[in-house]
Amino acid sequence: MRIINIPCIFPFALTSGAILLYTSPMFEAKKETNPEANLALMVESVRAILEGETDLVAGLANASAALKFYLNDINWSGFYLLKGKDLVLGPFQGLPACARIAEGKGVCGKAVMDKKPVLVEDVHKFPGHIACDSASASELVIPLFRGGEIFGVLDLDSPRLARFTELEAEYLEQTGKVIDGFLDRVNFS
Ligand code: SME
Repeated sequence: MRIINIPCIFPFALTSGAILLYTSPMFEAKKETNPEANLALMVESVRAILEGETDLVAGLANASAALKFYLNDINWSGFYLLKGKDLVLGPFQGLPACARIAEGKGVCGKAVMDKKPVLVEDVHKFPGHIACDSASASELVIPLFRGGEIFGVLDLDSPRLARFTELEAEYLEQTGKVIDGFLDRVNFS
């Protein structure tokens, strides 16, 4: 058996006949005190986490955990992925959530239909909002694309009204583009 020692942030799986060892530190659980610097760090951390990763679940699970870490006052951070016309629950952090969202339903369905981010300051005022966690008060949904085609959404919920600022929405859109790049690399075979 060969042992290949490659510095990387996250462990790589066993490959046929070889073990990839990771030698550099794991995720550095440190935030910036300046809010915009923290958002920039969040984008770069997600980029670093996904770099070299080609497994869908491994990449999205780590991305949801990183977003939950960098963003304060978040009760849910995760993914819904299109299967046919429905959205199906993907990797997430938070309480168990609705497993399926029908075409066009809820904030997530709207982001898929419009192919644009949807920022909701008060979910109780959003017609058709799907309450998976009764604590949620505001929500931001970013559509995700693979090869230019809609693939799913990144969904963030907060128990605080109007939690997400326009600035955060911009940085989370950037994060979405980083995730789109990862999706293009994912190996589905
Ligand atoms: N609130 C979402 C449903 C998903 S949960 O927030 C995790 C919606 O209205 O689409």
